[in-house]
Parts: sequence; C-alpha cells; structure tokens
Amino acid sequence: MNDLTGVRILLGTSGSVAVYKAAEWARELVKEEAIVTTLMTAAAQQFVTPLTFAALTGNSVYSNMFSIDPDGVMAHINLSRENDVLLVAPATAQTISRLATGSAEDLLSAVVLAAKIPVVICPAMNTNMYTHPATQENLHKLIGFGYRIVKPDSGSLACGETGEGRLAGWDTVRELLLSLLTPQDLLGQKIVITAGPTQEPIDPARYITNRSSGKMGYALARVAQRRGAEVTLITGPVHLPPPPGITCVHILSAEDMENAVMDVADKATVIIKAAAVADYRPAEIHQQKMKKYKEHFSLELDKNNDILAELGKRKKDEQVLVGFAAESQNHDQEGRRKLREKNLDLIAVNDILGKTTGFDVDTNQVLLIDREDSTSLPLMSKENTASHILNKIVDLLNRKGMLATL
Ligand code: PMT
Repeated sequence: MNDLTGVRILLGTSGSVAVYKAAEWARELVKEEAIVTTLMTAAAQQFVTPLTFAALTGNSVYSNMFSIDPDGVMAHINLSRENDVLLVAPATAQTISRLATGSAEDLLSAVVLAAKIPVVICPAMNTNMYTHPATQENLHKLIGFGYRIVKPDSGSLACGETGEGRLAGWDTVRELLLSLLTPQDLLGQKIVITAGPTQEPIDPARYITNRSSGKMGYALARVAQRRGAEVTLITGPVHLPPPPGITCVHILSAEDMENAVMDVADKATVIIKAAAVADYRPAEIHQQKMKKYKEHFSLELDKNNDILAELGKRKKDEQVLVGFAAESQNHDQEGRRKLREKNLDLIAVNDILGKTTGFDVDTNQVLLIDREDSTSLPLMSKENTASHILNKIVDLLNRKGMLATL
C-alpha cells in the first residue's frame, strides 16, 4: 500500500506545452495506485490528446461542459463531488485569470468554482506572463480563495526565454498532495532533524566517514513536514535531493554539525538525531597529501563531543529529545543505557548487521524505547518507520502538554 493508494485525484489540464508533464504526473499517480480522472480544456487538447490521459489513467477524460453522467448529474458537479483533491496542472495565465474572476465558461473553471475539495494550482507559462502584475494579482486572489499555489520553477522555458514559469517538479507537488491528505497533528512544532554521515578530514584527499546514506533522517523530515511541522534538516554529505520546502543546513564534520545543531536547538520543540556522527576525528589535519612511505601507519584520533549528550544536558522540560542507536549487539541494553545517559525521551535502536535494516537501505526495523515502555516495530519502509516514530513523539508531546497549548 502506498501513501496515495485509493486517493481520487481530479487532474485539470489547460493549454500549455507543459501538458506533457501533467501526463507524466498522471502516470506517477497511477503507479502509486491513486485513481486519476482527467479534465482537459480545449487548449490543452491542442498539445496532448485525451487518448494519452485515458490510456495512462485507465479512466474517462472530460472536456464537455454539458455532458451528463449516467446518474443524471452534470459532469462539473459530479467531478468536484467525487474526488479528494483537484490538481490544476498546468495552469495557464488564461486559466488563472478565469479562476480569479469566478468565471464558469468552460468545464475546468466550472469544476473549480463548484469544488469543496482542496484545490492545488500549478502555474506554467512564459516568464513575462507569470511575473506580470495582472497574473500575480490573480494568483493572490486564488490564495485568498484558499487554493494552494505551487510556485513554478526557474529555468529555460519552451518559448526560448529563461526565468520563472516552468511547471514545478513532481516531488514538490507530491509532497503538497500528501500534506493535504494527512492529519496536521504536528502543526506548530519546530522539529530539528539530523541526517547522514559526517566527514572528518585527514588531509586534502582523505577523510573518515561511515555508511549512512541519510535515508532515515530524510524520511523523518519529509513525514514530519507532511504532518504540519516546521522542519530544519541538518544534513551531512549524502546523494539525496533536498526535500522540497524544508530548510536544509549542509555540514561536513561533527564539529560543523554541533555548531549547526546548537544554533537552532533552543527554539526547537523536538530534536531527532538520526545522523551517524563520527565518534572520533584525526588529531591533526595534514595540509598536504600524506605520502605512503611507511609500511605501517597509525592515525591518532581525538574524541568528538557527543552532541546528543550535550543536548540532553541542556534539554528544557517541554522539549522532546530523540536519539537513534546503531547497534550490532545487545540492542535493548545499549538502547536503554543511551536513553538514560543522554537524558533522552525516546530512542530508536536499529540493527546495523541486517541486510534490510540500518545503513543505506530503504527499510528499517527499530526498537522504540521511552521512559515507560518499549515497542519493537516490524520491518517496514523508512517512511513508515518515520511515521511510527512521529506517532510516538506526538504521544510524548501530549504527555508534556505541548500539543494542547498550540
Ligand atoms: O542514513 P541511513 O543510511 O538511512 O542509516 C540510518 C542510520 C543507521 C544512520 C540511523 O538509523 C541511525 O541509527 N543513526 C544513528 C547512528 C549513530 O551514530 O548511532 P550511535 O549509537 O553511534 O549514536 C547514538 C546517538 O548519538 C545518535 O543519535 C547519534 O546521532 C548521536 N551522536 C553520536 C556521536 C556524537 N559525537 N554525537 C552524537 O550526537
């Protein structure tokens, strides 16, 4: 089961070359088992035929304002009733202008006017058209109506110009759709999440690091944001794209991470340390590349500060502090020791020897230990693991009375 399984999406397309991207989105949505119904303006059909959307979605494509559904209800009323979200993509300047005036002169504008479901508008057009005060004023009106606008990207446009106006990326839109469909139980929470490895330099060519890919921390950041939290992600060097809409602070060494975390820790209501911070760093950083003359070579290391333990010392009563423990043995015992010694509210212990848990895989299996009890979660995706950890954090915030006061 996917996050979008069974979600009914009404995809309204208008006349821009970016309709072909909407066709790709339809395909992505169907892959995630969403039920997609398409609605096309006459101009949209100049770029891509209804047959393309029908084939990709396995569903009817609507364009006729005066069609009657089998139950005798006009299409524009039924379409807005029968879906969970209305996604207008691409939305041209013309369509945006129609929607801003409350016009109902074609099926798309009539459906938007009749809609009581969340409406998401994704503009795509020439940059001068997009930045024109008329379009900007219209978009402000649409925000006032409660519609969600996904700002277009900047870059080279099909018209040959460069600037704002490119249809936003699918990842951004997908995250917004998911947040509209997810209960906002972390609204008002400021959550700091660390992710990925650190790099401890030896010389200009070499460093000490570990196998963390950042997947666990990034999944927590995405899911927390979806549930309404304001997330700051402090991340070591990883190969993952920055999650859309999340403030990312990029660091390299454990010392960089410590500085970045301490800068934001005081304002955070929740801190989750999923990063794999190096315990030691080279005592000396060589300015020149070290040569391989010696047969045996040893590196002297100094201990890094334990950031989590320091956060535990400074923790305010109303803050929730969550650690991870990467263990290869004695999981329960080690988890309890770290929970106690670092003054944590919750710790997620994961096994780093398993092929499907811990470092650099898409799944995890964690033992969650708090001050009162422990739960062993089954093997699941890192996103689902993140949801369970965040459920536990909601419980802890409730216990501290921190959700009621928001
Ligand atoms: O990134 P992925 O590939 O998805 O892998 C996920 C993960 C295995 C890295 C993650 O789930 C995980 O277990 N993160 C913690 C790794 C770790 O450093 O565990 P630890 O048991 O060594 O440290 C315990 C806690 O202290 C951790 O929360 C760690 O962030 C923190 N710590 C450790 C050392 C240090 N100097 N400062 C710290 O704050």
